[in-house]
Amino acid sequence: MTSHYPTQVKIVEVGPRDGLQNEKQLIKLANKLQLIDELALAGLKFIEAGSFVSPKWVPQMADSGALFDELDRQPGVTYSALTPNLQGYNSAKEVKVDEVAIFGAASETFSQKNINCSIAESLDRFLPVVEQAKKDNIPVRGYVSCVLGCPYEGDISPQSVAEVSQRLLDMGCYEVSLGDTIGVGTPVKTKNMLEVVQQVLPQDKIAVHFHDTYGQALANILVALQLGVSTIDSAVAGLGGCPYAKGASGNVATEDVVFMLNGMGIATGIDLHKLVQAGSNIMAALGRQSTSKVANALLS
Ligand code: HMG
Ligand code: MG
Repeated sequence: MTSHYPTQVKIVEVGPRDGLQNEKQLIKLANKLQLIDELALAGLKFIEAGSFVSPKWVPQMADSGALFDELDRQPGVTYSALTPNLQGYNSAKEVKVDEVAIFGAASETFSQKNINCSIAESLDRFLPVVEQAKKDNIPVRGYVSCVLGCPYEGDISPQSVAEVSQRLLDMGCYEVSLGDTIGVGTPVKTKNMLEVVQQVLPQDKIAVHFHDTYGQALANILVALQLGVSTIDSAVAGLGGCPYAKGASGNVATEDVVFMLNGMGIATGIDLHKLVQAGSNIMAALGRQSTSKVANALLS
């Protein structure tokens, strides 16, 4: 059984972006910097640290330029950011972001609500971003939202997910992260969707990104691992949610994913205790308890 699982997994920590973008309260830049620093020291090698989007749309990410300017960069760590258009890309490049991400959706209505354009228009906007990034030697990650359901349209067909994924890959994304934005996916649905996407995306180009709204994320991740997926997005302390997906709660907690993978003998390179401490510190700054079961168990 074990031999069917990957021997190691790449974890993409999205807490500082996907997590903090949805906070109602203002978060000090110093707290963000401390979080990112502690995540890197815990062994995370891919940290999505910010987002170059309209500050009117997502005020919590308005300080991403300052954040990248002040980052204490650890060697071997990729610090990435979201860039929905050339304007965002140019701002990201100015502060030496290591990697950028474009983000599309498999749902027309979500695309309109999230980035104010249709899926087709979004792909047209992403193209010059990817073209410029190629010239600058900056890797581009692609996201597809609503892969297992949409807050506005309900069910989404796996074929729509595969189509958008393929477009992102053809454009030049080195990896496509499949987002269950509102966390409605269940294991069999996850399997069905992944099997369709795997027909167009090579295995090593697929990442999964589960929000844990309905407590299904770890089960879905297990299915993804069984299908050979070895890149998982998660957020320390289960931070987050998308501001344009009503009811969406945080990403699966990185602590919970690492605990599960440790138990399965799958290497991540992450020090769970340092990770739990990083989560505990940001939650103290936010004045709330973590939603990570593992963190709460280890801290009790
Ligand atoms: P728009 O209004 O269509 O854009 O927004 P526009 O080009 O017409 O520009 C309008 C204004 O926005 C202008 O400013 C621009 O300068 C400004 P004004 O003249 O009115 O003062 N603007 C920008 N400012 C800063 N950076 C930029 C930028 N672009 C335009 N890059 C836009 C289009 C995409 C910008 C807007 O809809 C937006 O910012 N949306 C935010 C979307 C977002 O961040 N959502 C959350 C992240 S996605 C997510 O969480 C899902 C994910 O986790 C996966 C999953 O879970 O499924 C990735
Ligand atoms: Mg997300």
